[in-house]
Amino acid sequence: MTDTGFVVNRARGPFNATFFGLLGPYIDWNVRHRKRRVFADLPPTVVELGSGVGANLRYLRPGSTLVAIEPNVPMHRRLRAAAARRAVRLDLRDRVAEHTGLADRSADCVISSLVLCTVADPAAVLAEVRRILRPGGTFRFVEHVAARPGSPTRALQRLLRRPWAWTFEGCSCERDLAGLLRAAGFARVDIEPYRLHSPFITFNTQIAGIAYA
Ligand SMILES: C[S@@+](CC[C@H](N)C(=O)[O-])C[C@H]1O[C@@H](n2cnc3c(N)ncnc32)[C@H](O)[C@@H]1O
Repeated sequence: MTDTGFVVNRARGPFNATFFGLLGPYIDWNVRHRKRRVFADLPPTVVELGSGVGANLRYLRPGSTLVAIEPNVPMHRRLRAAAARRAVRLDLRDRVAEHTGLADRSADCVISSLVLCTVADPAAVLAEVRRILRPGGTFRFVEHVAARPGSPTRALQRLLRRPWAWTFEGCSCERDLAGLLRAAGFARVDIEPYRLHSPFITFNTQIAGIAYA
């Protein structure tokens, strides 16, 4: 465990860094239309929760600054290299999204993709996002969520929850993140639900959108 309280698993940390290094481009290709929409016109400094190996760097302009909140140290080497390739200045913080250490009302924009499924406490993360955003600032997200109750996908999400969480370091396919976002106290929340057609069936039910502080 680091002093952030995040447990870095010696085997699954590097496994996930390799997995997202290899399959990240495929995942990103599947969600590219949503990302292009919600990550359009990002400001010169962006805070990202759970940057992983840098899947979203391509949506920042060269010369921008990314404040990356990423507690999983095995991701850091690839993230640094990807930021250098994209000419993005990287301010990498070994912190958890529940406690970013950033000042109140200090950020214009916070982004996340495929992170609220994995954090220990998504409601606490959303409260932290609201705390650090300036009035009018935006939280832009692309996340996978629980399928409709009673649906075959929902049954599969339940069936696979333990091996999935074990493999992907606590990831849950059963979270109602749209509900949490709407309950988090943002001034306005725009959410688009959609379904991917990837082989990762439990991960195909997703939302993308923007919450305004
Ligand atoms: C599924 S990966 C997604 C990575 C990247 N955002 C992407 O779209 O490829 C989840 C990421 O969240 C990070 N993470 C897990 N718990 C976290 C927490 N409490 N705070 C911040 N990041 C966290 C993991 O280390 C990992 O990089």
